[in-house]
Amino acid sequence: MNKVRAHTNIALIKYWGKADTLLRLPLMSSLSMTLDAFYTETSIEATDGPDQFYLNGSLQDDRTAKRVFKYLNLLKQNYGKIDNLLVKSDNHVPTAAGLASSSSAFAAMAAAFDSYYQLNLSKRDLSIWARQGSGSASRSIFGGFSIWQKGHDSASSYAYPIDENPQMDLHLLAIELNVKKKKLSSTQGMLQAKSSPFFQTWLDRNEQEISQMQDAISNNDFTKLGELAELNANEMHAINLSAQPGFTYFEPNTLKAINIVHELRSEGIECYYTLDAGPNLKILCQLRNVKFIKNRFESVFDNVNIIDASFGPGITYLD
Ligand code: ADP
Ligand code: DP6
Repeated sequence: MNKVRAHTNIALIKYWGKADTLLRLPLMSSLSMTLDAFYTETSIEATDGPDQFYLNGSLQDDRTAKRVFKYLNLLKQNYGKIDNLLVKSDNHVPTAAGLASSSSAFAAMAAAFDSYYQLNLSKRDLSIWARQGSGSASRSIFGGFSIWQKGHDSASSYAYPIDENPQMDLHLLAIELNVKKKKLSSTQGMLQAKSSPFFQTWLDRNEQEISQMQDAISNNDFTKLGELAELNANEMHAINLSAQPGFTYFEPNTLKAINIVHELRSEGIECYYTLDAGPNLKILCQLRNVKFIKNRFESVFDNVNIIDASFGPGITYLD
């Protein structure tokens, strides 16, 4: 068996808009933090039977399997492989709930294919392949902080690490408000966002936002990192609201959770939020405030699951 583990990543400066839908080339660069708490484990092997995809132990016969086999066919064609494949994948992260399952999924898938066929691909090539499964997966090849540079074609659009072992005191609390599969996938959401009158402004600001975030990281400046991440997430969600037709991933509890962050800050507890294509808020904070912030959210939301995450590693080969 060739089991590979890849961790999810959360973008602090987000990818939200494609230049090429098929190749998943982005219109902007993005910068993320790989998380220790959430990951996917995937194994691939040839089979005499038909192609089969098991997700969390259940054989998939729907859209999910189609996306996976369409993706694996690209890899097979490129490397001259004709086997039917048995793919088993387990998500240690809620699937399609805005907690970045597709980032760990396709990083693990690309690395499992490489491992099974002993292709010895470079991390850069793995990132390029992971990107073609799901854009954000390009960054999950690496641990710590990484940047996915937008590039201008498939060969130049890949992620690279900026610090795989950061010493920064940074925690991300994932507030699991609703982990049901979302109605609008990231792929569809970002297509629709392009119709916002503010979309060009979103693009124009990208270079500056990436470089400011890099500075915050290299200066170990948590405050700056948090402020920039929150602003960037708000910009992304503002273009969704102002798209034509407008839409949002927010739910009533998302706004309630955002208000808690404002409240905590006014009390002098430093924390910031970011959120992706789903209603679940992620809180950026430092170790000394983790317990207090968790308690506050638990006192407002009944039975809410809160996961405390910090920096995770890049892809890991398990056996
Ligand atoms: P998320 O917010 O979880 O990243 P996306 O809409 O971006 O949601 O991606 C979710 C999709 O990623 C799923 O519908 C499925 O197609 C794919 N996916 C998730 N986990 C796996 C997995 N382990 N293996 C293959 N594909 C997966
Ligand atoms: C909001 O990588 O899931 O999480 O390339 O269509 O699969 P596809 O999209 P995906 O989008 C992620 C969007 C985001 C921001 C980010 O992770 O950069």
